[in-house]
Amino acid sequence: MTKRRTAILISGSGSNMLALLEAARNPSYPARPCLVLSNNPEAAGLARAAALGVPVAAVDHRPFAKDRAAFEQALDAVLLAHGTEFIALAGFMRVLTGGFVGRWQGRMVNIHPSLLPLYRGLDTHARALAAGDTEHGCTVHWVVPELDAGEIIKQVRVPILPGDDAAMLAARVLAAEHALYPVALASAIRQAG
Ligand code: GRF
Repeated sequence: MTKRRTAILISGSGSNMLALLEAARNPSYPARPCLVLSNNPEAAGLARAAALGVPVAAVDHRPFAKDRAAFEQALDAVLLAHGTEFIALAGFMRVLTGGFVGRWQGRMVNIHPSLLPLYRGLDTHARALAAGDTEHGCTVHWVVPELDAGEIIKQVRVPILPGDDAAMLAARVLAAEHALYPVALASAIRQAG
């Protein structure tokens, strides 16, 4: 199949983005990264992607504080200018409206650091520890208007160990995310046809 032009949206360090870029170096991988886009012009992931020769862009969300739709129209303009056919959210920390999600539904996935449907939203590691869970994990899912609620594509379980604090657990889960996302994104693109 021809590679799907895939934009990766980030807000921070972009370690998941790097895992996807690495996987995409394989000629048989179904995604061709066409853009790394951030709402944060200072996102460290932008420089990391640029150093690998991937087109990067930032649409700062702060000037659009009162107009989320206008922010998303600016995102769309950049996405379309780069020929985007698929979107992988990778630590993108802005909530997307139903309008944007509707335009990309079926062509947009996200990675979330929990075993969805457990622990939608933020601070998942601390919440799992507080609940006394013995395992945690990460999930790649289709994006729908409801936050962290789309159909699950793949998820990986990660043990919670005695003495874990949120940072230790987050690091263990993040390593699992880096293994999971490339496989799940390929699966999603093949499912999308
Ligand atoms: C990851 O834990 C991801 O699951 C969550 O935000 C974090 C992003 O990390 N949505 P990075 O920017 O990919 O390093």
